[in-house]
Amino acid sequence: MAGEEQRARHVAIIMDGNGRWAKRKGLPRAMGHRRGVEAVRELVRNVEPLGLECLTLYAFSSENWKRPEEEVDDLMNLMRKFIKSDLPEFVANNVKLKIIGDWQSLAPDIVAMLEDALDQTKDGKHTLAVALNYGSQQEIARAAAKAAAIGEVNEKTIAAHLDTVDLPPLDLLIRTSGEVRLSNFLLWQCAYAEMAFVDTLWPDFTIEHLKAAMNDFAERERRFGGR
Ligand code: FPP
Repeated sequence: MAGEEQRARHVAIIMDGNGRWAKRKGLPRAMGHRRGVEAVRELVRNVEPLGLECLTLYAFSSENWKRPEEEVDDLMNLMRKFIKSDLPEFVANNVKLKIIGDWQSLAPDIVAMLEDALDQTKDGKHTLAVALNYGSQQEIARAAAKAAAIGEVNEKTIAAHLDTVDLPPLDLLIRTSGEVRLSNFLLWQCAYAEMAFVDTLWPDFTIEHLKAAMNDFAERERRFGGR
């Protein structure tokens, strides 16, 4: 693909830095998460002109249960409020919601809200995939177990049972807040993804930051192991 510009079809984001954002402003952590939701909302509202087929956001990891109960409850409540308030907008804007991770073991009322949201957005055109109670190692183990059950374990049968099977290949992974690690997110899918680690804290991340990362991606030469 040398010399040709490429357009990203699928971008995933590790939204990190809500706590530090709040701390720097002398605010409680909860405020950081609130502003984090605002940043999600603004991004989803403005993403369509970028021509992405799928935007995947890491909202709650399998490891986030280790946080203090109060913070976990706060994140779950933000989730409830977000679905309730933004679902009509998703439907109006042709957003197709997809959830990855072990979301069916979340609180029953959240599961019911998500099922309804999936149903209401099923005819949408641009996918917003939200990782909830998501851990990539767990996802790969689940997929491998399913592949074993059909008697054939190889990279194709494992990929065919990942939560992301119906999403386009991941082109670009972005992590905010300056941390440089994957934190159990899309490990399999990152095999040939480009990576962008940006210093911006998640609540300050805007569509302009996403545009810049996508423009940078467009210039990169991807070889997929070839030369
Ligand atoms: C990382 O910040 C962020 C999270 C653990 C959760 C991400 C969640 C949101 C942006 C809000 C919920 C999203 C939706 C879609 C309702 P951190 O707390 O780890 O920040 P720190 O590393 O600075 O402490």
